Amino acid sequence: MSSVPPVIAEAFSTERFRADGHRLIDAVADALARWQRREGVVLSWRTPDEALGMWSRKGFGGVDLIDDLRRIMASSTALAHPHCMAHQVPPPLPGSALAELVSAILNNGMAVYEMGPAAVPIELSVIEWMCSKLGYGEGASGVLTSGGSLGNLTALLAMRQAHAGFDVWKQGAHAGPPLAVIVGSDAHYSVARTLRIMGWGDEGAIVAPVDQQHRLTAEAVEKAMSFGHGKKIIGIVAAAGSTATGAFDPLHELADVAERHGLWLHVDAAHGGGAALSLGQRHKLSGIERADSIVWDAHKLMMMPALVTAVLFKNGAHTYEAFAQQASYLFANAAPEETWWDLGQRTLECTKRMMAIEVWTALRVHGEELFGEIIDRLVVLAAEMAARLRNTDDFEVALDPELNIVCYRHRPYELEPGPGLDAHNRSLRQRVVEDGRFYIVGTQLPRGYFLRSTIMNPLIEPSDFDALIEHLRSLCRS
Ligand SMILES: Cc1ncc(COP(=O)(O)O)c(C=O)c1O
Repeated sequence: MSSVPPVIAEAFSTERFRADGHRLIDAVADALARWQRREGVVLSWRTPDEALGMWSRKGFGGVDLIDDLRRIMASSTALAHPHCMAHQVPPPLPGSALAELVSAILNNGMAVYEMGPAAVPIELSVIEWMCSKLGYGEGASGVLTSGGSLGNLTALLAMRQAHAGFDVWKQGAHAGPPLAVIVGSDAHYSVARTLRIMGWGDEGAIVAPVDQQHRLTAEAVEKAMSFGHGKKIIGIVAAAGSTATGAFDPLHELADVAERHGLWLHVDAAHGGGAALSLGQRHKLSGIERADSIVWDAHKLMMMPALVTAVLFKNGAHTYEAFAQQASYLFANAAPEETWWDLGQRTLECTKRMMAIEVWTALRVHGEELFGEIIDRLVVLAAEMAARLRNTDDFEVALDPELNIVCYRHRPYELEPGPGLDAHNRSLRQRVVEDGRFYIVGTQLPRGYFLRSTIMNPLIEPSDFDALIEHLRSLCRS
């Protein structure tokens, strides 16, 4: 007779799990099929306060798990619906969601090797594969972490430790001269946030303006070098696929400047790193192999469920510098260089999801080719969307999409560029969101406010763009 109280036994029941699991997979597969048929809405709009009312804290206990999950699905944004053309978040490969289920059940935390005896070496294999795809040679290494924002923090902490000229980690940020990096004006906000977290304040970023194509050029960096105002400039942060427009900085040029001035070059390829997997697109990353550190999100162009971010270092020893810390209750070895397998030494996370297994299993099942095909298709679709918008006389495209991000705006004949046109497009986007049949986002560019669509779903058809254009027009008419 078991001494386990029935309520606990029931919660851990494998038969209940089996039955719920079959029902859940059916429910999810049905939802995916509906979305792929373009049925239902992308977004069931409610104000945040209305939504809060729906998820009140009353009624805990006794609810059917699958009913509740269905309800959550119905109220969530359907990224897998082909009319979702919004942020840089993909509809994940369904098989990777299954891998995530296994990760959730195994819950191997990975801070130290024996907490993830399969996931830890798999992570190193995935890291080595990613390094090789970006052209890094022998000696490169890195780690996976939870998101591009944390990835930028991890890489820039390592940069600071390697280039500050004093031991910031032990002595503190103010034990030496104030430090700064040069950052393009289009850099993702996580870079400025990282610099503030590191205690450098606003002035830790010397912001260099991007050019007409939204790229950070060597010339702009050279000019910015004279704006240090007594600070020691230790690095350049470049973007390979900027957030707003998807622009790729000229990496060889920037690597030349970095070499000339002895600076660390960090490339934020959170979005564009996936271009390395496409024969037709990888030239956009040319020069990335010269960067000291790179961040690449697999939960963007590699179609993984969030979050899987690689932080890669040309000199793999730097991966130990971001968090050079001992914790005798966890890490067995005193010499961190020897313990690549104790991942917690190299990430902000202690316990971490088994994030590598999604990438690993996707590669094992589909091969690298799938990713090349997906990225090529997304690029073709984005170009097609821009072409269709350009073909109208009431829409304007901000710039040719470099990869899969399209920025465009509605231009009714009576509105010239300026605050009125910006307000019109902002209100149009809000109506799109509240209507829910499509989902697009927006961004502020120097020329004004533009609607923005990142094409993340390879199942989109060109006719979906025609449908979007008609939808926008009909919202304007109403
Ligand atoms: C260029 C770039 N860097 C960093 C990030 C942040 O990544 P994450 O959302 O994974 O934290 C993004 C997100 O869109 C991005 O586009």
